[in-house]
Amino acid sequence: MHFEAEIITCKSGKKLRIVSIGPDYAEQFLDFMHQVSNDTHFMSRYGNEVGQTEKDILAERERLNGLFEDDRQGMLSIFDGNRIIGNIAIRNVGKGRKTKHRCSIGLAVRKEYHGEGLGTILMEYAIKFAKTAGYQYIELGVLSDNKTAQGLYKKMVFEEWGRLPNAFILDDGSTLDEITMYKAI
Ligand SMILES: CC(C)(COP(=O)(O)OP(=O)(O)OC[C@H]1O[C@@H](n2cnc3c(N)ncnc32)[C@H](O)[C@@H]1OP(=O)(O)O)[C@@H](O)C(=O)NCCC(=O)NCCS
Repeated sequence: MHFEAEIITCKSGKKLRIVSIGPDYAEQFLDFMHQVSNDTHFMSRYGNEVGQTEKDILAERERLNGLFEDDRQGMLSIFDGNRIIGNIAIRNVGKGRKTKHRCSIGLAVRKEYHGEGLGTILMEYAIKFAKTAGYQYIELGVLSDNKTAQGLYKKMVFEEWGRLPNAFILDDGSTLDEITMYKAI
């Protein structure tokens, strides 16, 4: 996805920049993922599983390049200055013709920016992109105890279609179900 930068305004009135990120942002993106994965258990990895070595940065560059050069997939990031503070990933489901109408999304916002409307803005941009790219359904998974994200998805008119028991087993041994949701667009 190549998306020209646009200026958005968060609830407190601050102006921020939203843009599609490519390989040059690998280091900043890993720093972002490290923080958001440290701050909650809602992400798929723990913070200390988000590597930031030279090797990890090179691998991330390649991954981001693939998404950047793909006109049906991409990463949209919100920047405060040079820092990524929110991101939404839009990826296809499978590679073949049978599932080419489906995409999945995943998003996060750094905790010091929560409640500023950025999650909503990222969702709105992703829905618009998914429509333009010709998808008919957007899918996502959310942990059963992630009430904020569920509130956001319900507000964006996503519907629940399933629940995977014990999708996550945390280090303390507790288990969490994943709720799966979709939106027809
Ligand atoms: C989920 C997340 C992206 C929301 O980001 P945000 O920028 O704070 O979102 P917004 O300010 O746009 O708020 C979105 C909506 O969440 C809902 N919401 C917020 N707090 C809520 C709560 N305590 N209970 C239920 N719904 C809530 C509301 O619908 C709110 O919209 P409103 O302000 O118009 O009422 C953010 O909390 C986050 O990054 N969490 C950690 C990572 C994560 O959970 N990612 C999602 C994995 S599925």
